[in-house]
Amino acid sequence: MDKLGWLIVSVMLCRTFANTQSDEEFGYVPSLGDTSPGSVWPQPQSHTSTAQTIPVTIENFSFNYVASSYQCSTLDQAFKRYQGVLRSMTSHLRLKFRPMALQVISALDINLMSLCEHYPSLHMNEAYNLVVKEDQSILTSGSVWGILRGLETFSQLLWETATGEMVVNKTTIIDHPRYTYRGILLDTSRHYLSLNVILKNLDAMAYNKFNVFHWHIVDQESFPYVSQVYPDLSRKGAYQANYVYTPDDVAAVVEYARLRGIRVVPEFDTPGHSLSWGLGQPDLLTPCYASEKPSGTFGPINPILKSTYRFIRNLFIELKEVFPDSYIHLGGDEVSFDCWKSNPDITNYMKQKNITGDYAKLEEIYIQKISEICEELGLSYIVWQEVVDNGVQVKGDAVVEVWKRNKPQVELAKVTKLGYHAIITAPWYLNRIQYREDWYNFYQYEPTNFNGTKEQKNLLIGGEACMWGEYVDGTNIIPRLWPRASAVAERLWSAKDVNNVTEATPRLHQHRCRMVQRGIAAEPLHKGYCIHDWGI
Ligand SMILES: *[C@@H]1O[C@H](CO)[C@@H](O)[C@H](O)[C@H]1NC(C)=O
Ligand SMILES: *[C@@H]1O[C@H](CO)[C@@H](O)[C@H](O)[C@H]1NC(C)=O
Ligand SMILES: *[C@@H]1O[C@H](CO)[C@@H](O)[C@H](O)[C@H]1NC(C)=O
Ligand SMILES: *[C@@H]1O[C@H](CO)[C@@H](O)[C@H](O)[C@H]1NC(C)=O
Ligand SMILES: *[C@@H]1O[C@H](CO)[C@@H](O)[C@H](O)[C@H]1NC(C)=O
Repeated sequence: MDKLGWLIVSVMLCRTFANTQSDEEFGYVPSLGDTSPGSVWPQPQSHTSTAQTIPVTIENFSFNYVASSYQCSTLDQAFKRYQGVLRSMTSHLRLKFRPMALQVISALDINLMSLCEHYPSLHMNEAYNLVVKEDQSILTSGSVWGILRGLETFSQLLWETATGEMVVNKTTIIDHPRYTYRGILLDTSRHYLSLNVILKNLDAMAYNKFNVFHWHIVDQESFPYVSQVYPDLSRKGAYQANYVYTPDDVAAVVEYARLRGIRVVPEFDTPGHSLSWGLGQPDLLTPCYASEKPSGTFGPINPILKSTYRFIRNLFIELKEVFPDSYIHLGGDEVSFDCWKSNPDITNYMKQKNITGDYAKLEEIYIQKISEICEELGLSYIVWQEVVDNGVQVKGDAVVEVWKRNKPQVELAKVTKLGYHAIITAPWYLNRIQYREDWYNFYQYEPTNFNGTKEQKNLLIGGEACMWGEYVDGTNIIPRLWPRASAVAERLWSAKDVNNVTEATPRLHQHRCRMVQRGIAAEPLHKGYCIHDWGI
């Protein structure tokens, strides 16, 4: 065959392959334009609406406290933000529609029924009621966080008619999240992420009602966190001098998140995953031995030195100031015992303690001491599942994060049987990608599907989507996360029985287009298009 012939055959093979993967196996229909105008993602607990639509004036839309409402500066800023969001929906229209109807909606009344809280917490109240009708539209909540969630919902109810008019259906929504912990993990150690990308991701999280940014800020590869007590940690442990998060940067992230009702839980993972720490803090890591001599390589943090605990204590005192959340993530995953085994000082220490050979016990001693430091400082903590698997007793309000994909149900049953709170991430490692609509799997995972009593199920307080950083940086992290993480958002917010992918698809397509319209480079779900080209 000549060259052209081969080319045609191989092009045909590629086409066939692509079709097999996308159409036949999964039976998609393309998503054409607006598939579900005015639908809400994640789906509210109760959403009743009629086909009656009311025009909305976008240009001068206002949010007004009713007389009995508390006021709150966090909300004042949110009102400005959502005015911007509403205006951006009509940014493509050269002729703005001026509604001539007698009944138009030009304001949303706000009724905040309790004092403004400054910082979100694990126990924050996010429930709200929203009524949209001709004479008065009103958003009511017992907390500022519920008002924030309701504002997001309100913004999603608006849609554009074929004639370019913005309208909203007559609607009543009664809503609250199924789980109180709904997180996204970003890893800024494998690749540095710029502040802009982190803030953009916080916007996307708010559009999906996520409420925890789990900041896996440091790891083996680099230490970008700038500590004021131990400046050498980032000076020597960051990839480069400019790939760091200064105190101002961290404060900016925390504030941006707070304004959106999102907690920032930093993870300082030890005793493993800590190679980069050792560059700026001599004697912190365990020297590994080969043939009875130090080999020049280092292992986990050295658990037998007093200096280790002085260091951690000083660092944590600073972290408590820098990160206002009452929780810190202590890590504790994937501790390799080989280096500890090779080191004669460690062996001697274990002989003294009568724990010879049991290196999990050594890890327990370490985590126990770290947890005592946390307790002393008034910090609650989250740990990865290995800590409990290795027999460490954690504090009553500790949260155990289940990540291993091998039998997460068994792990959840075990952790909750011990009486610990748990969050699950095992089914939601979004850094793993496939050539198909993999959100189906994320969406259909039922977290409570494990053997346990009602009390045990209540100990499961939520979960999170993880985006580990080996293969992502600012160039691709947003499209890789969104809208795939939206599937997790709905699983964690909406009712248990909202799990039908056929029904979710048009809403998710709509939501993806909505995110694109708002400047989030969310990737397509499948074949099709959004009704407008938003220029991303
Ligand atoms: C909103 O109103 C439109 C137009 O009357 C109707 O087609 C649509 O089904 C309504 N949507 C909802 C969610 O009620
Ligand atoms: C918005 O308000 C401004 C000032 O109050 C007014 O000049 C303008 O005409 C209003 N625009 C619309 C569309 O109502
Ligand atoms: C060390 O442990 C062994 C086995 O658990 C026990 O028999 C022994 O009494 C212990 N010795 C000390 C000094 O605690
Ligand atoms: C629950 O336990 C039963 C009986 O031991 C077992 O057959 C079943 O697979 C378990 N279910 C899950 C989700 O682990
Ligand atoms: C999912 O929804 C579709 C469309 O409403 C329906 O035909 C299908 O039976 C549902 N699937 C399940 C498993 O309930």
